[in-house]
Amino acid sequence: MLRINRLKLLQFRNYKAKSFDLDERIIGICGDNGTGKTNLLDAIYYLCLTRSYFSRPDGQNVTHGMQGMRIDGEFDREDGPHTVTCILRENNRKEFLADNEPYRRLSEHIGRFPCVMIAPDDVELISGSSEQRRNFIDAILCQLNPEYLQQLIAYNKILQQRNSFLKQASESNAKPDEALLGTYDDQLGSKGQTIYEVRVEFMRHFLPLVLRHYEKIAEKRDGLAIQYTSQLSSSPLKAILQHTLQKDLALQRTSAGIHKDDLEIYIGEYLFRSQASQGQRKSLLFALKLAEWDVLRENKGFSPILLLDDVFEKLDAQRMHNLLHWVCAENEGQVLITDTHRARLTEQLADIKVGFKVIELGIKN
Ligand SMILES: Nc1ncnc2c1ncn2[C@@H]1O[C@H](COP(=O)(O)OP(=O)(O)O)[C@@H](O)[C@H]1O
Ligand SMILES: [Mg+2]
Repeated sequence: MLRINRLKLLQFRNYKAKSFDLDERIIGICGDNGTGKTNLLDAIYYLCLTRSYFSRPDGQNVTHGMQGMRIDGEFDREDGPHTVTCILRENNRKEFLADNEPYRRLSEHIGRFPCVMIAPDDVELISGSSEQRRNFIDAILCQLNPEYLQQLIAYNKILQQRNSFLKQASESNAKPDEALLGTYDDQLGSKGQTIYEVRVEFMRHFLPLVLRHYEKIAEKRDGLAIQYTSQLSSSPLKAILQHTLQKDLALQRTSAGIHKDDLEIYIGEYLFRSQASQGQRKSLLFALKLAEWDVLRENKGFSPILLLDDVFEKLDAQRMHNLLHWVCAENEGQVLITDTHRARLTEQLADIKVGFKVIELGIKN
């Protein structure tokens, strides 16, 4: 069981100073556009994952004209009550505390308070670049496995060093230092292999869950097929790097590695990205996110907090009902859901026949 019971915001975006009692499992949040619904959900995401869902620099989360911000949350988890505090100092230094104890590293916090967000622009996950899909997968794996984040940080650091090396070697036109290059390739090869193996193992479990959720939401399979692709599936990275060296020198960057992995998605024999209808895209988006929620729940032994931002705009009433029934009635997790229409929100939640609370946001916060 994981719940956030209380949230206190200080100078966080449009909230100068505001507290929320979130003492229900199902919480509807309504208010006109611009009243701070998304900001409220993002504050919870921030507390759980140490950063904004919308990958904004920390400073942009501070109320305009102010300096520094603070978010406090009171949680209940399987092992008892916990407080989590995020402080962004005036010098932009970020601190995280759990039960008033500061973390040495922010990464130690990730995964302890799991949460999943579904927000309006998320279809980019399907139609955008492969980087979006890698970030999505990496964000899940970081919550599942703290060592994964360390491996990823180390890989990216070596990748940057190798790229600077390639740039220098190519600009100076001198023969590259083979010993140094060999060291980079060894390190990149070994870290890359570890990350690749974690991803392969994860996909084996995750992708069938995505298909199952898709079928439940869309009420049919649509010939959906998803495949994890990596250059490492054909040869070890070190061998590929030796093979691509001339090309890498010309490009002045490393063209092969786990930073090129992707999820290839097909509908029948066509690429999903170019063929799927709006409805199919939305169904797939929800399927990916609910599969994320599932794997986190299995791994942690309790349901992550689910943050649903403006999802009523996305699915038709029947699909929305099915989805809400599944997350709110068939499962135990806390759900916070926003909508601009109070009546629609209340009606949908009442239909599920579980206790809920509605918070109405005004113009003044
Ligand atoms: N750093 C900030 N300082 C002050 N206000 C902000 C900041 N960032 C965003 N806002 C304001 O927050 C409001 C948007 O809140 P948002 O949560 O997106 O609303 P909603 O989801 O209800 O439409 C906007 O009016 C925007 O100007
Ligand atoms: Mg919004």
